[in-house]
Amino acid sequence: MSIDQMEAVAQAMVAPGKGIIAIDESSGTIKKRFDAVGVPDSEENRRAYREMLLTAPGLAQHISGAILYDETIRQSSKAGVPFTKIMKDAGIIPGIKVDMGAKPLAGFPGELVTEGLDGLRGRLEEYVKLGAEFAKWRAVITIGEDMPSSTCIDANTHALARYAALCQEAGLVPMVEPEVLMDGDHDIETCFEVTEATLRSLFGALYEHNVMLEGTILKASMVVSGKDCPEQADLEEVAESTILCLKSTVPAVLPGIVFLSGGQSDEDATAHLNAMNRLGPHPWPLSFSYGRAMQQAALHLWSKDMAGNFGAAQKIVVERARDNGLAALGQWKKAA
Ligand code: 13P
Repeated sequence: MSIDQMEAVAQAMVAPGKGIIAIDESSGTIKKRFDAVGVPDSEENRRAYREMLLTAPGLAQHISGAILYDETIRQSSKAGVPFTKIMKDAGIIPGIKVDMGAKPLAGFPGELVTEGLDGLRGRLEEYVKLGAEFAKWRAVITIGEDMPSSTCIDANTHALARYAALCQEAGLVPMVEPEVLMDGDHDIETCFEVTEATLRSLFGALYEHNVMLEGTILKASMVVSGKDCPEQADLEEVAESTILCLKSTVPAVLPGIVFLSGGQSDEDATAHLNAMNRLGPHPWPLSFSYGRAMQQAALHLWSKDMAGNFGAAQKIVVERARDNGLAALGQWKKAA
């Protein structure tokens, strides 16, 4: 893909009223999600579940792309049609998670650094052949006592920049995801400071590595109170803090920002995105790239009767896509 094509893909990923569904759970994470609803974690169940999501009628109206996992990008529907073909025919851009997970950062107990750079050039080439047009790499920043260290932030943003440069070399749009975790009892101001420092470091590293921002998408975490903080910031404060933090750190030339849901309830994830867009116009489209907040209701229903609830679960995922698509326009209204 040329630079111009990468720019076009990045823009299509954040087209008005559209966002991304993240179904790139690693083997360990999907097992956790299936265990929670009593579904045996077999390859066939993972395939059937992802088929339910990807073939939901009308999904493409609000979904521009889907992030897949290594196993999923190689799978097909029950009828034998590769998922990537089903997606492209529907107008949904295939993406792929390419990091190898967050591992303990040596010398910094409690902190993580994402691995996966070794051999990445070859893996990206293969994913391009399999039909991927964008890739995702998730870095994890933990807030705690004396955490995060600047070493942790810089190690992670350096890896993100190397990954992003390799993506563009291969003709893939990098989605760079520095997730500041919600875990902990810290207040929203602490989350703001950590997110600001992380994004500053990230855009510095992307610059140092000659990454073309016009062909890059940021996947950001919202600025929120820690999950266990006794004082929870309200909707408006989350929206205003997140926008202020992004405006202070993210260059306007970036084609778009999408958010992760990070453990927020479905309604909070939608309401926060909507509130941010109501504060616009902003320098970039703000949309979603939700995993749990797109899937959890559908997974729950599907798990109770995989065959019988197939269509009903598809309807739920499309409803979540519609609500989040409206929130990306600032037009969502809470059901009465
Ligand atoms: P959540 O929306 O469940 O946080 O997942 C998004 C994602 O892809 C995290 O990497």
